[in-house]
Amino acid sequence: MTYQTSSPATVPNADEAHADAEVLQVVGGARLAGQVQISGAKNSALALLAASLLTGEGCEISNVPHLVDIERMSAILIALGAQVLRQGDKLKIRAEQIGYASAPYELVSKLRASFFVIGSLMGRCGRARVPLPGGCAIGARPVDLHVRGLQALGAEVHIEHGIVEARCRCGDRLEGARIYLDYPSVGATETIMMAATLARGQTIIENAAQEPEIVDLANFCIAMGAQIRGAGTKTIVIDGVSELHQASYAVIPDRIEAGTFMVAAAITGSTISIAPVIPEHLGAVIAKLQEVGVRVVQQGRDQLTIIGGHGYRSADIETLPFPGFPTDMQAQFMALLTLCEGNSVITETVFENRLQHVAELNRMGANIKLKGNVAVVSGVPVLSGAPVMATDLRASAALVLAGLAAQGVTTIKGLHHLDRGYENIDHKLRTLGAKLHRTILE
Ligand code: EPU
Repeated sequence: MTYQTSSPATVPNADEAHADAEVLQVVGGARLAGQVQISGAKNSALALLAASLLTGEGCEISNVPHLVDIERMSAILIALGAQVLRQGDKLKIRAEQIGYASAPYELVSKLRASFFVIGSLMGRCGRARVPLPGGCAIGARPVDLHVRGLQALGAEVHIEHGIVEARCRCGDRLEGARIYLDYPSVGATETIMMAATLARGQTIIENAAQEPEIVDLANFCIAMGAQIRGAGTKTIVIDGVSELHQASYAVIPDRIEAGTFMVAAAITGSTISIAPVIPEHLGAVIAKLQEVGVRVVQQGRDQLTIIGGHGYRSADIETLPFPGFPTDMQAQFMALLTLCEGNSVITETVFENRLQHVAELNRMGANIKLKGNVAVVSGVPVLSGAPVMATDLRASAALVLAGLAAQGVTTIKGLHHLDRGYENIDHKLRTLGAKLHRTILE
């Protein structure tokens, strides 16, 4: 088998066109039962792929989910000169010759996380050209914190014609620095951490993001020889080294996929088990499920059983950086709260435009009032199936969950969103007993 060296950039586009022609029909009311396997974390895998550019020796990353976003990131690595080979759940990446090519705009604009390669390129080559990713369905999502972090490390950054062009002010190595992040941005923490692994001297990131994906990225970099401590806390200390080496590493389980299946059990009043999971990554989600009346039992180190019931109570949610309630679970939890007795208040603090699913859930009979970033969900006894449109990745998962509980058939359009982040979700749900299938509407 040989490495893939030409960009599969057209594949994701073709997939998207196909997924747009398809709809997912969910027949509500089926009870779920059994166990579901949780895939590797999309957001960890994306960061690890970006970090694989930090060494020319080659890396092997396993437990990588099959997702459109991962294909796009692979295509970007290839466009930058890396070789990428997929073998089952493993990606072998060899970035021996990393050129000064710009990451292709068509791909960066579709996958914001690809901007994070600016960190590894700056660390490895001391220069980078990456298009500005632009906004996306959930908000404007600027990259000012990434840019300021790189500037603090000694990069000169120019943004012209939509391209961010960065190069070291002196020589080809960045210089360690103390960087305070105004907001604990996941992406900015990742960009700065990657860049600092190969900088001269020590970097301290204060008010760093503490998400499990940050810890996973740090552990991968450490496996490559980086010196990083404090990942998972607010202060990360990186002592730059002159080069990194080959590493093999497995991605952590996807806590958001796990949380989505937990809500699937809850909303259908079913009992299912999920594994593998890292229960500590799911603290806020477990606490809120328990607050509404769902039982969650840990079995062994990495398995959870979710025991759904009925007559759930309302709960208030505010999305926050980890260990707070994850914004990536807000839409799915809202689907559940539509069926909980009483009023629940959901405050989205992380992204300014991440409540578009409210209108779609209301089409299904939910009673949600929206004011700014606050949604007041008044529980209703039933939802009813309806044609709905997925507006972003997690919103699409919320509609699938609502469809599982609704009376009648829910027809979901815009499936390319769903396929960005959930590996084999239809199959996994069908295995549990859900009734859903994809079809092309005439
Ligand atoms: N922000 C800035 N300036 C920056 C960076 C971020 O203002 O330079 C703002 C953003 O606009 C946003 C907030 O800070 O309002 C949080 O953004 P953050 O940088 O933390 O998010 P991200 O790194 O762009 C990752 C995940 C998201 C997840 C968020 C928050 C990846 C690839 N994406 O995005 O995942 O919602 O962290 O946890 O890791 C998803 O999987 O559905 C998803 C959107």
